[in-house]
Amino acid sequence: MSAFDYRDDRLFVEGVALAEIVDAVGSPCYVYSRRTLVEAYRAFVEALGDQPSLVCYAVKANGNLALLATLADLGAGFDIVSQGELERVLAAGGDPARTVFSGVGKTEAEMRRALEVGIRCFNVESMAELARLDQVAGALGVRAPVSLRVNPDVDAKTHPYIATGLKENKFGIALPEAMACYARARDYPHLAFIGMDCHIGSQLTDLRPFADALDRVLPEIVRLRRAGLALAHVDVGGGLGIRYRDERPPTIGAYVALVLDRLSSYGLEDSELILEPGRALVGAAGLLATRVEYIKDADGKRFAIVDAGMNDLIRPALYGAWQNVIPARRRPGPVREYDVVGPVCESADVFGRGRSLAIEPGDVLAIADAGAYGSAMGSQYNARPRPAEVLVDGARFHVVRERETYDDLMRGERVVRGGL
Ligand code: LLP
Repeated sequence: MSAFDYRDDRLFVEGVALAEIVDAVGSPCYVYSRRTLVEAYRAFVEALGDQPSLVCYAVKANGNLALLATLADLGAGFDIVSQGELERVLAAGGDPARTVFSGVGKTEAEMRRALEVGIRCFNVESMAELARLDQVAGALGVRAPVSLRVNPDVDAKTHPYIATGLKENKFGIALPEAMACYARARDYPHLAFIGMDCHIGSQLTDLRPFADALDRVLPEIVRLRRAGLALAHVDVGGGLGIRYRDERPPTIGAYVALVLDRLSSYGLEDSELILEPGRALVGAAGLLATRVEYIKDADGKRFAIVDAGMNDLIRPALYGAWQNVIPARRRPGPVREYDVVGPVCESADVFGRGRSLAIEPGDVLAIADAGAYGSAMGSQYNARPRPAEVLVDGARFHVVRERETYDDLMRGERVVRGGL
């Protein structure tokens, strides 16, 4: 049973009524279900069975410390893309030796810090980055563990902003170039080439592009092995989609089964398999609760103006993403169609158009499936403090991030007055 469900007419998150949480912490707020997160992680682990493997949660999806700590306690690894994410992982008790570092723009300082704490691997995305990492590692007197992120040039068939596996994208190294580089591994005395990795995009709802990417990448790993360079791991990235509306994404089990099947068909089942799921772990584990401030009738159009905005959850505005909007308390009626909009001064500040709802001002709504890339992409645009975040654990809930104050909003700023 889903952790987000109605009892009588009240929406519950696990054992707590959403209205109770909002009464206690205010609106808007993000609410996460611990159970949902744990179940998703366990689904990966179960499907992986005996395969040597590491599930590295993509921190960018949601870096809240409570979620990271939950995953760290379960034995998860992490996929990071900045020093900030690394510091979050460390603060949450995550294991640097289970952490891989992705991203096209790693700075020297970031490399140094990651080497000092002893991360598992750098996923390197360009020749220039490789040269820099070799230098930084040399200066520290260590060897940096490296996996080349290859770009298999497959179409992930997802939104263009979140497709990364085509050669026109900035990500990864073209396969022939990467192969040439592995062949010259000796030219990099301070690097240890231990893996190969690829990530082709996000919110994939079909197994086909994953299979296509594996069928391009895995034969190359076999070729390297034959040439005497046995890579210890293969990292297949993240990207597994979730159901926001009527998509039918593969289950975690089906996705992992495909990867395992491909690994064994190339005789690579003895390699360690690294996965970097973000959305598939946290997406369905969170909602954004928001209160209806006004109902506005404007020339045949009806708006529900809520107190969360595109600064709190930008996916609908940025990608035209559809996320369900449901009431915290079901009313008997009347049901009307609303555009659910925020208070931000942008016409894109719309959570959903033409949504059928029975609501009154003051009601609480939940924007569903907001656990991934919700809070993490939030901003303070329009000088709006970031919302509180709450983790529900059974019958209890905990504030895991305080709502920002107006002082937080202005922290570090200074007024300077020039001569008049
Ligand atoms: N690994 C790498 C190298 C990535 O770039 C990403 C996501 C992941 C793993 C995790 O992907 P996931 O399993 O979550 O699909 N803001 C967009 C999604 C951006 C994804 C960026 N990279 C959204 O809200 O849809």
